[in-house]
Amino acid sequence: MQTSPINSTGRSWLIKMTTILRTLLLHAVILCVMQTSGVRIESVPGSVEQMIEMKLDGTVSLICRHKTAARTDMELVWLRNNALVKLENNNRGDNSSICVTPLTHEDNGAIFTCQRKNDTTLNDSVTLNVTYASRTNGSEEFDMEEQETLVLLCDMYANPAVIVSWEFNGTQLEHTAGQVIVTNDGFTSKLTVNKLDMDLHRGTYICETNSPKHGKQRRTFIVRVKERTIRFPVMPIVAGVVVVFLTILLAIFSRRKKIAKCFK
Ligand SMILES: *[C@@H]1O[C@H](CO)[C@@H](O)[C@H](O)[C@H]1NC(C)=O
Ligand SMILES: *[C@@H]1O[C@H](CO)[C@@H](O)[C@H](O)[C@H]1NC(C)=O
Ligand SMILES: *[C@@H]1O[C@H](CO)[C@@H](O)[C@H](O)[C@H]1NC(C)=O
Ligand SMILES: *[C@@H]1O[C@H](CO)[C@@H](O)[C@H](O)[C@H]1NC(C)=O
Ligand SMILES: *[C@@H]1O[C@H](CO)[C@@H](O)[C@H](O)[C@H]1NC(C)=O
Ligand SMILES: *[C@@H]1O[C@H](CO)[C@@H](O)[C@H](O)[C@H]1NC(C)=O
Repeated sequence: MQTSPINSTGRSWLIKMTTILRTLLLHAVILCVMQTSGVRIESVPGSVEQMIEMKLDGTVSLICRHKTAARTDMELVWLRNNALVKLENNNRGDNSSICVTPLTHEDNGAIFTCQRKNDTTLNDSVTLNVTYASRTNGSEEFDMEEQETLVLLCDMYANPAVIVSWEFNGTQLEHTAGQVIVTNDGFTSKLTVNKLDMDLHRGTYICETNSPKHGKQRRTFIVRVKERTIRFPVMPIVAGVVVVFLTILLAIFSRRKKIAKCFK
């Protein structure tokens, strides 16, 4: 049996593969070089990502190390959102560390950079992702009168963002319909009912927030609506009564004059 030589399409495929392999190798070498020079931030609790996920009120320690063990005399600086962080004198060399505690809402998205003082191209950065749940859970009661405006507020300030839904007497409030308006500003979801109607609007409202990380929370609003109590405006009525009384008196008086005239 004869072995057939590699045909032309097979050969060009081989060349292509060789080229790809060579490129990949080159990339690997470049990556290797980049990893052995410069500085690297490590975090406690640890993370291999450039994004460190932490809970609100938690604590994170960031440690900056030289990637090469040899040059440990280099001075390091830390930046928070490009602003210099003050360091103790003995904390500027290798293993320079900073601690952020307690983590606040403002620390979410903050970028921490460690770099060599003399040569800023030797740098590493991490971004904090501070997660927090909304404070939705709870219940409130409202005693309202017809024609009044009802405003229900529901906390939705959370990271990651939550999905908010409202229901009334067990039925989902799909869209803003009629007098019921739902708005949100990213912090609070607001349900407004203008001109309350006893038959249409009294009942139980529920705001539900759904977080991919923190789960579901519900806030219940029990809204009672009663008839508008008619408050008599006392002073104008008194004045009116006086006017009517005087008019009648005047009428009788002038009539009497007329009558008197007749019987003169
Ligand atoms: C920094 O930490 C590493 C690992 O813990 C250690 O090997 C090294 O000696 C430390 N360097 C300095 C200057 O403390
Ligand atoms: C780095 O800075 C120090 C002073 O902080 C200086 O003595 C040294 O010459 C600088 N090195 C380079 C390479 O710029
Ligand atoms: C940080 O290092 C990268 C290369 O690793 C460089 O492109 C960048 O300009 C450096 N940043 C600063 C502030 O020097
Ligand atoms: C922060 O972490 C949360 C929870 O894992 C995630 O859903 C969200 O996308 C992260 N934020 C960013 C900006 O990566
Ligand atoms: C909602 O439920 C309450 C209590 O069960 C009831 O009094 C009210 O009439 C209901 N409202 C509507 C519009 O169905
Ligand atoms: C909210 O209430 C639900 C049900 O009672 C509960 O499972 C959940 O842990 C509560 N969440 C918070 C943040 O209080």
